[in-house]
Amino acid sequence: MEIIILPTPADVARTAADAIEDQVRSGPSVVGLATGSTPLGTYQELIERHRTGGLSFAQAQAFLLDEYVGLPTDHPQSYHSVIRAEFTDSVDFAAGAVHGLDGMAANPAAEALRYDASIEAAGGVDIQILGIGTDGHIGFNEPMSSLVSRTRIKTLTQQTRVDNARFFETPEQVPDHVLTQGLGTISQARHLLLLGLGEAKADAVAAAVEGPVAAICPASALQLHPHVTVLVDEAAASKLLHKEYYQYAFDRKPAWQGL
Ligand code: PGA
Repeated sequence: MEIIILPTPADVARTAADAIEDQVRSGPSVVGLATGSTPLGTYQELIERHRTGGLSFAQAQAFLLDEYVGLPTDHPQSYHSVIRAEFTDSVDFAAGAVHGLDGMAANPAAEALRYDASIEAAGGVDIQILGIGTDGHIGFNEPMSSLVSRTRIKTLTQQTRVDNARFFETPEQVPDHVLTQGLGTISQARHLLLLGLGEAKADAVAAAVEGPVAAICPASALQLHPHVTVLVDEAAASKLLHKEYYQYAFDRKPAWQGL
């Protein structure tokens, strides 16, 4: 894991956008997208680069990490709708190039299998953006998710429902169930970008990066992946034990290395 501590959320957004831009400019690419508040700055940065810097997603495909069960695709809080509003409608993905899970599928298990097969058919994900939940989840893999899980239905913890209630009119409207790429599915992406912003994520970031690999902190599964870049602001990094070393290593990062 490479752990990069940056002064502000804007620095995290710019650095994440740099990594995605490099990938997308290198040729036809498959980008893994996350919803939630954390990647919004990154999406704003990419939209700006599309508008003013000639960055094009016309040759790219995108796969979402997860979706609420029971929300139709056109519901404003379905992740299909959210990603369109926050990112994909503001750049130039081709029609049909942004893929998500169907939260209304009559057979969620079959939908999950279909989704994993469609990621594989696209050649796998080149670069995956990840946020982290206060309970250490990535995607919607809640604590005790199998570290090798595939896409499947999960039950949200009460904590996650409370965390996400701000997007709904009442907390009760947050669905109980979701479809999410599994930890094994996510781990097949070739490069993982884990973003963490703010004090509320400091415990989860510390457990993911410096704790044991254990299902109690699903993001700790990333320690087994060969190419993970953790981008955190000072507040999210505040509980890391080896902060000074990460900064020292980043200050000495060879210029040729990239992320
Ligand atoms: P957030 O959520 O970006 O809205 O904080 C992250 C997550 O739950 O994965």
